[in-house]
Amino acid sequence: MRVLSGIQSSGKLHLGNYFGMLKPALEMQAKSDETYLFIADYHALTTVQDASALRAAINEIALDALALGLDHSRTAFYRQSDVPEVQELAWLLSVVTPMGLLERCHSYKDKIARGIAPSHGLFAYPVLMAADILAVQADIVPVGQDQKQHVEVTRDIAIKFNHQFGETFKIPKPLIKKEVAVVPGIDGQKMSKSYDNTIKVFTSEDELRKTVMRIVTDSKTVADKKDPEKCNLFALYKLFAPPDRCQQLDERYRKGGLGYGEVKKELAGLIWLFFAEARARREKLRSDPAEAERVLRQGAERARAVIRNTLQKARKAVGLE
Ligand code: ADP
Ligand code: TRP
Repeated sequence: MRVLSGIQSSGKLHLGNYFGMLKPALEMQAKSDETYLFIADYHALTTVQDASALRAAINEIALDALALGLDHSRTAFYRQSDVPEVQELAWLLSVVTPMGLLERCHSYKDKIARGIAPSHGLFAYPVLMAADILAVQADIVPVGQDQKQHVEVTRDIAIKFNHQFGETFKIPKPLIKKEVAVVPGIDGQKMSKSYDNTIKVFTSEDELRKTVMRIVTDSKTVADKKDPEKCNLFALYKLFAPPDRCQQLDERYRKGGLGYGEVKKELAGLIWLFFAEARARREKLRSDPAEAERVLRQGAERARAVIRNTLQKARKAVGLE
């Protein structure tokens, strides 16, 4: 079984990215025969159009993934732009992609609604994503809920291509972890860098505490009984505390006499501790930039061997070879 996922280099890694996508992808390292994880830097260019910001974001994401447990002996970890073959594949896929399929994509519509210029790249984004996935003939694609439609588009494109040109691509499936499909941000909406409501995985202790203290709750007083199921503070707490501690907090919520400020302090401490080891690993990696670069180059070589194969198969199927 082959597993592939990608993450855009378009900002600092946050808890939504970690729990929704990176952690499930890293867990698959032990279960799959082959795992591929890449930095979607071509995709990031649809929104990050400042060369030094893009370069910095690529380096940061590389350190993040390695620090959080990416094992490069099991996972081919690479920059999308180091594998230009995906671009050619994207073109071959684009000729069987109906306009209507792309016009229906929520992600495109949301981005336009937020004021991002509707470029051709932004519109064709799902076709490039399909190329990323189909290029390695992935079976499973771990993603957060918001990427589900893009994986469905990938499936539609693959089916269309196979129908038109003969069996070429495997049909992939999304892997979405229900409990973490939508991690809430500090304002209660989906956590996203576009909503400026994120809790960053790697940040200073002071900034972490300040961000957690800003988590929005209802206006109940300390004495009031509270509903843990309707509280995004509690939803975030559950990601970090063991089940018995969550159970205790659940009871304290329902009894009353518990202030949200107290829970926030506890949560900040839990998050800080949770990432302590990864933080130490990241510091070490940061002091040796050549190491991450070496991993990415080797990863690209491994991915390219598989991707070149698929591309050749697709070129033959359409009559270019
Ligand atoms: P953002 O919304 O911050 O721009 P990305 O689009 O770069 O995040 O998402 C990278 C990955 O992280 C995707 O697989 C996405 O589904 C997942 N993800 C992002 N935010 C969340 C969230 N709040 N909850 C669960 N998964 C998320
Ligand atoms: N669109 C994904 C996101 O914003 C990133 C991505 C690009 C991706 N290509 C992919 C994810 C292929 C999974 C598989 O998060």
